[in-house]
Amino acid sequence: MSEAYTRAWQASIAQPEAFWLGAAQAIDWSSPPAAAFDPARGWFPGGRLNTAYNCVDRHVAAGRGDALALIYDSPVTATVTRTTYAELQHEVGRVAAMLAHLGVERGDRVVLYMPMIPPTVFAMLACARLGAVHSVVFGGFAPLELAKRIDDATPKVLLTASCGIEGARTIAYQPLVDEALALARHAVDHVVVYQRERLAAELSGPRDHDWQSLRDATAADPVPPAVAVAADDPLYILYTSGTTGTPKGVVREHGGHAVALAWSMANIYGIGAGDVFWAASDVGWVVGHSYIVYAPLLVGATTVLFEGKPVGTPDPGTFWRTIVRHGVKTFFTAPTAIRAVRKEDPEGRFLAEIGTGPCQAIFLAGERADPETIAWAEARTGLPVIDHWWQTELGWPGVASCAALGDLRRRRGSAGFPVPGYEFAILDESGHPLPTGQSGAVAIKAPLPPGAFRTLWNNPAGFAKNFAAFPGWYETGDAGFFDADGFLHIMGRTDDIINVAGHRLSTGQMEQIVATVDGVAECAVIGADDALKGMIPIAFVVPRAGAGGDATLPARVIAAVRGELGAVAALKTAFVVPQLPKTRSGKILRNLLRKIVNGEEAPTPPTIDDPAVPDLLRAAVLGEKV
Ligand code: COA
Ligand code: AMP
Repeated sequence: MSEAYTRAWQASIAQPEAFWLGAAQAIDWSSPPAAAFDPARGWFPGGRLNTAYNCVDRHVAAGRGDALALIYDSPVTATVTRTTYAELQHEVGRVAAMLAHLGVERGDRVVLYMPMIPPTVFAMLACARLGAVHSVVFGGFAPLELAKRIDDATPKVLLTASCGIEGARTIAYQPLVDEALALARHAVDHVVVYQRERLAAELSGPRDHDWQSLRDATAADPVPPAVAVAADDPLYILYTSGTTGTPKGVVREHGGHAVALAWSMANIYGIGAGDVFWAASDVGWVVGHSYIVYAPLLVGATTVLFEGKPVGTPDPGTFWRTIVRHGVKTFFTAPTAIRAVRKEDPEGRFLAEIGTGPCQAIFLAGERADPETIAWAEARTGLPVIDHWWQTELGWPGVASCAALGDLRRRRGSAGFPVPGYEFAILDESGHPLPTGQSGAVAIKAPLPPGAFRTLWNNPAGFAKNFAAFPGWYETGDAGFFDADGFLHIMGRTDDIINVAGHRLSTGQMEQIVATVDGVAECAVIGADDALKGMIPIAFVVPRAGAGGDATLPARVIAAVRGELGAVAALKTAFVVPQLPKTRSGKILRNLLRKIVNGEEAPTPPTIDDPAVPDLLRAAVLGEKV
């Protein structure tokens, strides 16, 4: 046990004001906050700051302009570029001037549908500089999903690139963006396209601008000043899967975000100015927002932007090579990525040959890290492999071993201990705390710590719902338990959200899509265990009368989910079944479906309406794999 960790956690819970005002000193405020928290105004009321200034300009002003800010390593284009803080300041300034030229002002929204390239980072920071609100949409989402986000965020400007590069595939973005804009009710004023060497996009009409031409045209414009915004002004909106087909727009506020991220770098990850940090995620996800872009730059470290996959770009040694090449001190990835590496290099030959350079720890998040994967990674790398838990809603870890506070206690299967700022309880259905060892709903005491969401964009009622089941507590949607030594074990979701290769998806949303496919009478989508991706979605469809013999049905179901939600949904299997297992009151027994596809023992529940259905399903699963 680490005393530093225990002291920090206790101080954060007993004296949150003093704790967080102390942490706020890591940030440069144009007006310091009067207090740490106000129930109406949130964290750091009265404080004014600019997040981009804190990420970039202040380091240059402190004489660190020559220090490396961003390393772009792209095995898919055989490119490595290095950007110093002074260069980053220049680049951010130029994109800010471009956006200002297009009329973007404080509070305006800018949607980014961009690949993992430096201009994406420049653009996020440029929005922050202007006080504009960015909303980055992951490239794996289909046009309809992009359209939903455009309609909700109502951006003035959409930034995109001619293509994304996904392993060996080049994905043209322009047609996807055009389709999304045609589907959306909201009309954006401007689309700016960054042309990549691999593929040129054709621009059409006055709405579209070529990134470079716009940059040239505004080259003489002054750099817009960094706008001092209120601590509770929104920095970004990040959409994540809820339990319905409508994504939830998590709103991140400037003040709490900056303070929490800076604190986490120093106290969890052990990263400060001059260190190299690499989060192998995508800027389209919360991990990318927090730990590729903002957190490393807030503390003056060097961040790595990696455009590649754990395997195949070019081989399973790519992680280790990148760590050694750039001197990465702390590495962050998803368990699924380690499983992918292990699958292709089970003996760890690449690892043995390349090594892990100066790397001191590997952090995993995004899904439960299975003990076997951790054991493999620890044995092969000789490094502490630290599972930690968090959510888009929180923006930074809620459960971890705070390694930088000297707490390296780990127990495989557990995500660690409550991070300072977070008070957890395991509750039963009526909100009563459950004893140690018993699994229940994982809840966090309100108010949530700095950095966590305080509303959903256009949906305060949706936000309030998270606090409705257990008054005074935030319902995380996860189930778990504390063991006798205080380790928190997160066991899975209590709702219909699944994690596929570290990507958060809603089976409810997939069901909504499948239900509209011609010939489908009824359906259920469940998450089945998968050795590589952790979970994968599987659809069960009951054909409409007369459509039972339609052999194209499974393929059409799969295509519909891919077409409407996106490739990232990874729905590759649909079973046609005569009936779904239901209770007598008509509730679909999804758990039974899950057990059947997982090949687990599945006693027929006494509440089942038709006891013959499970055997029919087993026959379908064994005989009809698509
Ligand atoms: N743009 C367009 N398409 C994308 C995409 C993007 N940014 N990201 C993924 N896709 C596509 C993939 O090409 C794939 O398409 P396919 O079905 O035609 O092959 C599909 O979406 C599913 O992608 P993915 O789940 O990534 O599977 P994969 O087989 O390509 O790769 C892994 C498997 C494990 C290597 C990969 O998922 C991975 O690296 N996961 C780690 C994820 C992560 O870091 N998450 C962040 C949480 S911290
Ligand atoms: P996201 O919002 O995409 O970060 O997904 C958050 C969800 O991912 C959580 O609610 C968990 O269900 C799951 N998750 C993230 N990290 C972990 C972890 N370390 N262990 C178990 N589940 C995790």
